[in-house]
Amino acid sequence: MKNIVTARAHTNIALIKYWGKADSTLNIPTTSSLSMTLDQFYTTTAVEFTESPADRLILNQQETDATRVSQFLMMMRAKYGQFPNVKITSENHVPTAAGLASSASSFAALTAAMFGLLELEKDDAELSRIARRGSGSASRSLFGNFAIWNKGSDDRSSFAESFYNQDIGLSMIVAEISSEKKKMSSTKGMQLAQTAPTYGAWVEKSAYQLEEMKSAILKKDIEKIGLIAQDNALGMHEQNRRCEAPFDYFTKETQRVVDFTAQCYRAGLLAFVTIDAGPNVKIITDHATEKKLLAKFRAEFPELTFDVAHAGGAYEYL
Ligand code: PMV
Repeated sequence: MKNIVTARAHTNIALIKYWGKADSTLNIPTTSSLSMTLDQFYTTTAVEFTESPADRLILNQQETDATRVSQFLMMMRAKYGQFPNVKITSENHVPTAAGLASSASSFAALTAAMFGLLELEKDDAELSRIARRGSGSASRSLFGNFAIWNKGSDDRSSFAESFYNQDIGLSMIVAEISSEKKKMSSTKGMQLAQTAPTYGAWVEKSAYQLEEMKSAILKKDIEKIGLIAQDNALGMHEQNRRCEAPFDYFTKETQRVVDFTAQCYRAGLLAFVTIDAGPNVKIITDHATEKKLLAKFRAEFPELTFDVAHAGGAYEYL
C-alpha cells in the first residue's frame, strides 16, 4: 500500500445547472447538468492513514472541522470495507472571496486521492458516483473541458462523464463580488427552490436546453452557448425568488454586473452571465473578446477583482 497519495482536481462551472435533488441522501439531481472545468482554480489533496482517533482535515495549512469529509469517508467505508482513519491535507487554489464553490474541486480531488490510497480500480464512472456523494457538482470535476452529469434515477445510473474534451475557445471572466448577506448553502437553497410553483417548468426547460447546449458546444458556437447558459442560470435564480421562503444570492453589485454584461452584448460584444449559489458573476465570452471585455469591466467596476479562466483538464495524480 502507498503511504500517501496526492491528487488534483479543478473546479467547474455549470452551463446547464444542477439545482434540485430527487434524492437528497444520494445526491440524485432533478436535472442533468453540463459544465466546463476551469484551468485556473483547483484543489490539491493528499491522503494518508493516521493513528489519530478520528479522521483529520488540514485545509490551507489549518486544522479544520472534519465532520463533512469524515461523513464522506464513512460512506466510502460502508461501500468498500473498513479502513483506518485518514489524514487529509488539502490546498484550495480557489478564490474564496469570489464565493467560488470549492466543494466541486475538493470532493473530486479527495475522491481521486482516496481511490489511490485504497488501490481501487480507477473507473471514471465509479469515481464520479463517489464524488457525487460528497457534493453533486464534484461528480463533473473529474473530467477535463466539458462534462455532462446524467441525472440517472439511482446510485448506479447517476454519474458524470466527459462530453467534449477540447478547448473550444470559451473564456470565463470571474467577477469577485464579496457577499453582503449570510450565505445560504446550496443544499438548503435547492430544497427551497423546489417549492417554487414554476420549478417544474424550469426542470422541463432544462432538459431541452441541455440538448441545445450539446449541439452548440459541438458547433463551437459561443454566442449560442452563452445565451442558453444565461437563460438557464437566470431561471435557476428565479426559482429562489419564487419559492415558499424567497431568498436571493444576488447583491446590488451582482445585478449591476449582470446589467452591464447585457449592455456589452447589445453593443455587439460576446458577453453573457452565469451565477451559482453566491453573489459572484462569471462572464462568458470567447478568447478573442476576453481582453477587450476585461478592460471594459475593469473601467466600469474599479472596486472589483476579475480573474480570467479557460477550460481546464481532468483530475491527475501528483
Ligand atoms: O455541488 P453543490 O451541492 O454545491 O451544488 C452546486 C450547485 C450550483 O453550483 C449552483 C450549480 C452547479 O451545477 O454546479
